[in-house]
Amino acid sequence: MIVLSVCNHKGGTGKTTTAIHLAAAMGLSGWRTLVVDLDPQGFLTRTMGIDEPAPEASVAALFSPDVKVGRLPVREASGFDLLPSSSTLTKRLRDLNKPTDVLWVREALQRAKLNYDLVLFDTAAAVTVFSLNAIVASQHVLIPVLPEYQAVVGAEQTFQTTTLVRDKLNPRLQSRTFLLTQVDARKRIHRTYQQYLREKYGERVLDNVIRTSTALAESRDGGTTVFDHDSSARGARDYANATDEMLRRLRAMESQEDVRATVTDESIDADDVPLPDEALDS
Ligand SMILES: Nc1ncnc2c1ncn2[C@@H]1O[C@H](COP(=O)(O)OP(=O)(O)OP(=O)(O)O)[C@@H](O)[C@H]1O
Ligand SMILES: [Mg+2]
Repeated sequence: MIVLSVCNHKGGTGKTTTAIHLAAAMGLSGWRTLVVDLDPQGFLTRTMGIDEPAPEASVAALFSPDVKVGRLPVREASGFDLLPSSSTLTKRLRDLNKPTDVLWVREALQRAKLNYDLVLFDTAAAVTVFSLNAIVASQHVLIPVLPEYQAVVGAEQTFQTTTLVRDKLNPRLQSRTFLLTQVDARKRIHRTYQQYLREKYGERVLDNVIRTSTALAESRDGGTTVFDHDSSARGARDYANATDEMLRRLRAMESQEDVRATVTDESIDADDVPLPDEALDS
Protein backbone atom coordinates (compact mmCIF):
# COMPACT_ATOMS: atom_id res chain seq x y z
CA MET A 1 0.00 0.00 0.00
CA ILE A 2 1.40 3.38 -1.04
CA VAL A 3 0.74 6.38 1.20
CA LEU A 4 1.00 9.86 -0.31
CA SER A 5 0.30 13.34 1.09
CA VAL A 6 -0.68 16.37 -0.93
CA CYS A 7 0.81 19.43 0.81
CA ASN A 8 1.77 23.04 0.31
CA HIS A 9 1.96 25.45 3.26
CA LYS A 10 0.50 28.19 1.04
CA GLY A 11 -3.27 28.21 0.50
CA GLY A 12 -5.07 27.97 -2.83
CA THR A 13 -2.30 26.16 -4.71
CA GLY A 14 -4.54 23.32 -5.96
CA LYS A 15 -4.05 20.74 -3.19
CA THR A 16 -7.68 19.68 -2.92
CA THR A 17 -8.24 19.73 -6.69
CA THR A 18 -5.11 17.60 -7.11
CA ALA A 19 -6.06 15.14 -4.35
CA ILE A 20 -9.50 14.60 -5.92
CA HIS A 21 -8.24 14.17 -9.47
CA LEU A 22 -5.20 12.09 -8.66
CA ALA A 23 -7.47 9.76 -6.68
CA ALA A 24 -10.13 9.65 -9.40
CA ALA A 25 -7.54 9.01 -12.14
CA MET A 26 -5.86 6.31 -10.04
CA GLY A 27 -9.31 4.79 -9.52
CA LEU A 28 -9.82 4.77 -13.30
CA SER A 29 -6.45 2.96 -13.61
CA GLY A 30 -7.75 0.25 -11.30
CA TRP A 31 -6.05 1.35 -8.09
CA ARG A 32 -8.17 0.90 -4.98
CA THR A 33 -7.77 4.37 -3.52
CA LEU A 34 -8.72 5.93 -0.18
CA VAL A 35 -8.66 9.71 0.20
CA VAL A 36 -8.32 10.97 3.76
CA ASP A 37 -9.48 14.57 4.19
CA LEU A 38 -7.21 15.96 6.91
CA ASP A 39 -8.17 19.59 6.33
CA PRO A 40 -10.46 20.68 9.22
CA GLN A 41 -12.24 22.99 6.75
CA GLY A 42 -13.30 19.90 4.83
CA PHE A 43 -13.56 21.43 1.35
CA LEU A 44 -12.72 18.11 -0.30
CA THR A 45 -15.45 16.35 1.70
CA ARG A 46 -18.01 18.99 0.80
CA THR A 47 -16.88 19.11 -2.82
CA MET A 48 -17.67 15.41 -3.07
CA GLY A 49 -21.22 16.13 -1.81
CA ILE A 50 -20.79 14.75 1.70
CA ASP A 51 -22.37 16.71 4.56
CA GLU A 52 -20.65 17.20 7.90
CA PRO A 53 -20.47 13.67 9.39
CA ALA A 54 -20.75 12.77 13.08
CA PRO A 55 -17.26 13.02 14.65
CA GLU A 56 -16.96 9.24 15.05
CA ALA A 57 -17.88 8.81 11.37
CA SER A 58 -15.09 11.13 10.25
CA VAL A 59 -11.31 11.38 10.03
CA ALA A 60 -11.37 12.34 13.74
CA ALA A 61 -11.67 8.58 14.34
CA LEU A 62 -7.96 8.29 13.49
CA PHE A 63 -7.16 10.45 16.56
CA SER A 64 -9.12 8.35 18.99
CA PRO A 65 -7.63 5.42 20.93
CA ASP A 66 -11.02 3.64 20.74
CA VAL A 67 -11.21 3.50 16.98
CA LYS A 68 -11.78 0.15 15.33
CA VAL A 69 -9.45 0.98 12.51
CA GLY A 70 -10.42 -2.14 10.60
CA ARG A 71 -13.83 -0.52 10.24
CA LEU A 72 -13.02 3.02 9.22
CA PRO A 73 -16.14 5.03 8.38
CA VAL A 74 -15.29 5.46 4.70
CA ARG A 75 -17.77 6.75 2.14
CA GLU A 76 -17.93 6.17 -1.58
CA ALA A 77 -16.94 9.07 -3.80
CA SER A 78 -16.25 9.29 -7.52
CA GLY A 79 -14.05 6.26 -8.22
CA PHE A 80 -12.44 6.28 -4.78
CA ASP A 81 -13.35 5.95 -1.11
CA LEU A 82 -13.24 8.95 1.20
CA LEU A 83 -12.67 9.29 4.91
CA PRO A 84 -14.49 12.60 5.42
CA SER A 85 -13.25 15.55 7.43
CA SER A 86 -15.10 17.01 10.39
CA SER A 87 -15.04 20.44 11.99
CA THR A 88 -14.46 18.62 15.28
CA LEU A 89 -10.79 18.41 14.21
CA THR A 90 -10.47 22.11 15.04
CA LYS A 91 -11.56 21.39 18.63
CA ARG A 92 -9.18 18.41 18.87
CA LEU A 93 -6.30 20.73 17.95
CA ARG A 94 -6.17 22.04 21.53
CA ASP A 95 -5.53 18.56 23.03
CA LEU A 96 -3.07 17.35 20.41
CA ASN A 97 -0.04 19.15 21.81
CA LYS A 98 2.36 16.36 22.82
CA PRO A 99 5.33 15.49 20.57
CA THR A 100 3.87 12.00 20.10
CA ASP A 101 0.63 13.44 18.72
CA VAL A 102 2.21 13.53 15.25
CA LEU A 103 2.13 9.70 15.25
CA TRP A 104 -1.63 9.06 15.48
CA VAL A 105 -2.30 8.56 11.80
CA ARG A 106 0.75 6.42 11.10
CA GLU A 107 -0.12 4.15 14.01
CA ALA A 108 -3.76 3.94 12.95
CA LEU A 109 -2.70 2.91 9.42
CA GLN A 110 -0.30 0.32 10.85
CA ARG A 111 -3.08 -1.19 12.99
CA ALA A 112 -5.64 -1.09 10.21
CA LYS A 113 -6.07 -3.93 7.79
CA LEU A 114 -6.84 -1.63 4.91
CA ASN A 115 -7.53 -3.10 1.51
CA TYR A 116 -6.26 -0.20 -0.63
CA ASP A 117 -3.44 0.23 -3.14
CA LEU A 118 -3.15 3.93 -2.38
CA VAL A 119 -3.98 6.12 0.61
CA LEU A 120 -3.91 9.81 -0.23
CA PHE A 121 -4.07 12.67 2.30
CA ASP A 122 -5.40 16.13 1.51
CA THR A 123 -4.00 18.65 3.98
CA ALA A 124 -4.65 22.25 4.99
CA ALA A 125 -2.28 25.07 4.12
CA ALA A 126 -1.36 25.67 7.77
CA VAL A 127 1.41 23.61 9.35
CA THR A 128 -0.61 21.88 12.05
CA VAL A 129 -0.44 18.58 13.87
CA PHE A 130 -2.80 17.23 11.17
CA SER A 131 -0.55 17.98 8.20
CA LEU A 132 2.45 16.72 10.19
CA ASN A 133 0.54 13.49 10.89
CA ALA A 134 0.01 13.09 7.15
CA ILE A 135 3.71 13.59 6.30
CA VAL A 136 4.83 11.30 9.13
CA ALA A 137 2.57 8.55 7.74
CA SER A 138 3.61 8.96 4.08
CA GLN A 139 6.20 7.50 1.72
CA HIS A 140 5.61 10.24 -0.84
CA VAL A 141 4.67 13.92 -0.74
CA LEU A 142 3.22 15.73 -3.74
CA ILE A 143 3.52 19.52 -3.62
CA PRO A 144 1.10 21.31 -5.97
CA VAL A 145 2.52 24.71 -6.80
CA LEU A 146 1.10 27.65 -8.70
CA PRO A 147 4.09 29.30 -10.45
CA GLU A 148 3.80 32.59 -8.53
CA TYR A 149 5.92 34.06 -5.75
CA GLN A 150 3.96 33.14 -2.60
CA ALA A 151 3.05 29.65 -3.74
CA VAL A 152 6.66 28.93 -4.73
CA VAL A 153 7.90 30.14 -1.32
CA GLY A 154 5.23 27.94 0.32
CA ALA A 155 6.30 24.98 -1.81
CA GLU A 156 9.94 25.38 -0.83
CA GLN A 157 9.03 25.71 2.85
CA THR A 158 6.96 22.55 2.50
CA PHE A 159 9.96 20.79 0.94
CA GLN A 160 12.07 21.84 3.94
CA THR A 161 9.40 20.62 6.38
CA THR A 162 9.40 17.24 4.65
CA THR A 163 13.21 17.07 4.93
CA LEU A 164 12.95 17.71 8.69
CA VAL A 165 10.18 15.15 9.12
CA ARG A 166 12.09 12.58 7.09
CA ASP A 167 15.31 13.11 9.07
CA LYS A 168 13.70 13.15 12.53
CA LEU A 169 10.54 11.08 12.30
CA ASN A 170 9.93 9.27 9.05
CA PRO A 171 12.87 7.57 7.32
CA ARG A 172 10.33 5.86 5.05
CA LEU A 173 9.62 9.16 3.29
CA GLN A 174 10.95 8.35 -0.16
CA SER A 175 10.07 11.20 -2.48
CA ARG A 176 8.95 14.80 -2.68
CA THR A 177 7.55 15.84 -6.05
CA PHE A 178 6.34 19.22 -7.32
CA LEU A 179 3.31 19.51 -9.60
CA LEU A 180 2.80 22.85 -11.35
CA THR A 181 -0.89 23.82 -11.24
CA GLN A 182 -3.13 26.55 -12.65
CA VAL A 183 -0.42 27.28 -15.22
CA ASP A 184 -1.12 30.00 -17.75
CA ALA A 185 1.67 29.83 -20.34
CA ARG A 186 0.77 33.32 -21.58
CA LYS A 187 1.96 34.80 -18.28
CA ARG A 188 5.67 35.56 -18.27
CA ILE A 189 5.79 35.28 -14.48
CA HIS A 190 4.46 31.70 -14.74
CA ARG A 191 7.13 30.78 -17.27
CA THR A 192 9.82 32.33 -15.08
CA TYR A 193 8.84 30.57 -11.83
CA GLN A 194 8.35 27.31 -13.71
CA GLN A 195 11.89 27.56 -15.05
CA TYR A 196 13.19 28.50 -11.58
CA LEU A 197 11.66 25.35 -10.04
CA ARG A 198 12.85 23.08 -12.86
CA GLU A 199 16.41 24.41 -12.67
CA LYS A 200 16.55 24.08 -8.89
CA TYR A 201 14.67 20.83 -8.30
CA GLY A 202 15.29 19.02 -11.59
CA GLU A 203 13.59 15.63 -11.75
CA ARG A 204 11.59 16.39 -8.64
CA VAL A 205 9.26 18.51 -10.81
CA LEU A 206 6.74 16.53 -12.87
CA ASP A 207 7.08 17.10 -16.63
CA ASN A 208 3.31 17.32 -16.95
CA VAL A 209 1.67 20.49 -15.67
CA ILE A 210 -1.96 21.34 -14.87
CA ARG A 211 -3.11 24.31 -16.90
CA THR A 212 -5.93 26.62 -15.85
CA SER A 213 -9.21 24.94 -16.71
CA THR A 214 -12.68 26.30 -16.05
CA ALA A 215 -14.03 22.74 -16.26
CA LEU A 216 -12.12 21.93 -13.05
CA ALA A 217 -13.86 24.74 -11.15
CA GLU A 218 -17.24 23.88 -12.73
CA SER A 219 -17.00 20.18 -11.86
CA ARG A 220 -16.19 21.17 -8.30
CA ASP A 221 -19.33 23.31 -8.04
CA GLY A 222 -21.28 20.30 -9.32
CA GLY A 223 -19.88 17.97 -6.62
CA THR A 224 -18.08 15.70 -9.05
CA THR A 225 -14.74 15.25 -10.79
CA VAL A 226 -13.78 16.71 -14.13
CA PHE A 227 -13.65 13.15 -15.51
CA ASP A 228 -17.38 12.81 -14.85
CA HIS A 229 -18.17 16.40 -15.81
CA ASP A 230 -16.25 16.69 -19.09
CA SER A 231 -13.64 14.04 -19.77
CA SER A 232 -12.34 15.87 -22.86
CA ALA A 233 -11.65 19.10 -20.97
CA ARG A 234 -8.10 20.39 -20.62
CA GLY A 235 -8.21 19.80 -16.85
CA ALA A 236 -9.18 16.15 -17.36
CA ARG A 237 -6.37 15.54 -19.87
CA ASP A 238 -3.80 17.30 -17.72
CA TYR A 239 -4.69 15.37 -14.56
CA ALA A 240 -4.79 12.08 -16.49
CA ASN A 241 -1.29 12.75 -17.90
CA ALA A 242 0.14 13.94 -14.56
CA THR A 243 -1.30 10.85 -12.85
CA ASP A 244 0.25 8.54 -15.49
CA GLU A 245 3.61 10.20 -14.91
CA MET A 246 3.23 9.90 -11.13
CA LEU A 247 2.27 6.23 -11.51
CA ARG A 248 5.37 5.53 -13.62
CA ARG A 249 7.52 7.22 -10.99
CA LEU A 250 5.90 5.35 -8.09
CA ARG A 251 6.51 2.05 -9.87
CA ALA A 252 10.13 3.00 -10.64
CA MET A 253 10.67 4.06 -7.03
CA GLU A 254 9.46 0.75 -5.67
CA SER A 255 12.97 -0.56 -6.41
CA GLN A 256 14.87 2.63 -5.58
CA GLU A 257 15.73 4.49 -2.39
CA ASP A 258 14.90 7.98 -3.69
CA VAL A 259 14.23 9.69 -6.98
CA ARG A 260 17.53 11.06 -8.27
CA ALA A 261 17.66 14.84 -8.00
CA THR A 262 19.93 17.37 -9.63
CA VAL A 263 20.54 19.04 -6.25
CA THR A 264 21.17 17.77 -2.76
CA ASP A 265 18.77 18.75 0.01
CA GLU A 266 21.55 20.68 1.76
CA SER A 267 21.93 23.10 -1.14
CA ILE A 268 18.24 23.97 -1.14
CA ASP A 269 17.37 27.29 0.46
CA ALA A 270 13.87 28.77 0.30
CA ASP A 271 15.32 32.29 0.47
CA ASP A 272 16.51 31.95 -3.14
CA VAL A 273 13.04 32.54 -4.61
CA PRO A 274 13.27 35.64 -6.81
CA LEU A 275 10.79 38.40 -5.92
CA PRO A 276 8.21 39.02 -8.68
CA ASP A 277 10.09 42.14 -10.00
CA GLU A 278 13.36 40.24 -10.17
CA ALA A 279 11.61 37.29 -11.80
CA LEU A 280 10.28 39.52 -14.56
CA ASP A 281 13.67 41.20 -15.07
CA SER A 282 15.45 37.91 -15.58
N1 LIG B 1 -6.14 24.06 -12.84
C1 LIG B 1 -7.07 24.88 -12.37
N2 LIG B 1 -7.74 25.71 -13.20
C2 LIG B 1 -8.67 26.57 -12.72
N3 LIG B 1 -9.03 26.67 -11.43
C3 LIG B 1 -8.41 25.85 -10.56
C4 LIG B 1 -7.41 24.91 -10.96
N4 LIG B 1 -6.97 24.26 -9.88
C5 LIG B 1 -7.64 24.75 -8.82
N5 LIG B 1 -8.52 25.70 -9.23
C6 LIG B 1 -9.40 26.50 -8.39
O1 LIG B 1 -8.58 27.25 -7.49
C7 LIG B 1 -9.15 27.30 -6.19
C8 LIG B 1 -8.17 26.72 -5.18
O2 LIG B 1 -7.95 25.34 -5.48
P1 LIG B 1 -7.87 24.25 -4.33
O3 LIG B 1 -9.02 24.37 -3.39
O4 LIG B 1 -7.66 22.94 -4.98
O5 LIG B 1 -6.56 24.72 -3.58
P2 LIG B 1 -6.06 24.29 -2.12
O6 LIG B 1 -4.57 24.35 -2.17
O7 LIG B 1 -6.67 23.02 -1.72
O8 LIG B 1 -6.63 25.47 -1.22
P3 LIG B 1 -6.63 25.50 0.40
O9 LIG B 1 -5.23 25.85 0.80
O10 LIG B 1 -7.62 26.60 0.70
O11 LIG B 1 -7.05 24.15 0.89
C9 LIG B 1 -10.47 26.51 -6.28
O12 LIG B 1 -11.50 27.43 -6.50
C10 LIG B 1 -10.28 25.62 -7.50
O13 LIG B 1 -11.52 25.32 -8.14
MG1 LIG C 1 -7.71 22.47 0.05
